[in-house]
Amino acid sequence: MEYLIETMKFSKEFILHPISTSSIVPSSKNLSCAIVSVSNIKEAKAIIELGCGTGAVTEAIVKNADKNSNIFSFDTNSAFIKIIREKYPQVRAINDSAENMKQYMNEYSVEYADTVISSLPWATFSIRLQIRLINTINCILNDNGEFVTYAYLHTKLFSSHKRFVKILHKKFKTVTFFSVVWTNLPPAFIIKCKKD
Ligand SMILES: C[S@@+](CC[C@H](N)C(=O)[O-])C[C@H]1O[C@@H](n2cnc3c(N)ncnc32)[C@H](O)[C@@H]1O
Repeated sequence: MEYLIETMKFSKEFILHPISTSSIVPSSKNLSCAIVSVSNIKEAKAIIELGCGTGAVTEAIVKNADKNSNIFSFDTNSAFIKIIREKYPQVRAINDSAENMKQYMNEYSVEYADTVISSLPWATFSIRLQIRLINTINCILNDNGEFVTYAYLHTKLFSSHKRFVKILHKKFKTVTFFSVVWTNLPPAFIIKCKKD
């Protein structure tokens, strides 16, 4: 029942803000678990989540992260942030653009992140925003930190996605693509990037 209510809230925000929300339903459990399972989250002390929505991925992060870790979740949609604050009081849920993540880390005296997990709709972003965000992520990550994100399968055809992948290869030493999670709507594939 809770899942149904959250899905309805998510779909409502998609109708109101289709481009930034980007998907009509939240990520599936299979995708959320797969994201967390390819990451270094269990050892991470500082975790940054970008584009938390109603918390599909946040739930997997909270379940798998160390209880003493610092978790920041960003979303530009205030309705989503309200849900995250109610459901996950241990998470610092921030209603602001991911572009400003460094400012909030400074505020809480967190110098570097060990893991950045993103659900941001990269293929809808301008080249300037893609570059700005990837530069910021690269700058706030520890030398052995990881950036894990995903893309919807159909966006592979878009020039904005191809451009995004080029930026990743420029900014990170290792970029790994995982197989498609078909049990997500729309099907999606995970990308993991490492600095070292
Ligand atoms: C595809 S949804 C993913 C939601 C959720 N993580 C999930 O997996 O169901 C993308 C989310 O990114 C948020 N978003 C879009 N642009 C953003 C930005 N610049 N900074 C932070 N969040 C943003 C949207 O509001 C939306 O909640």
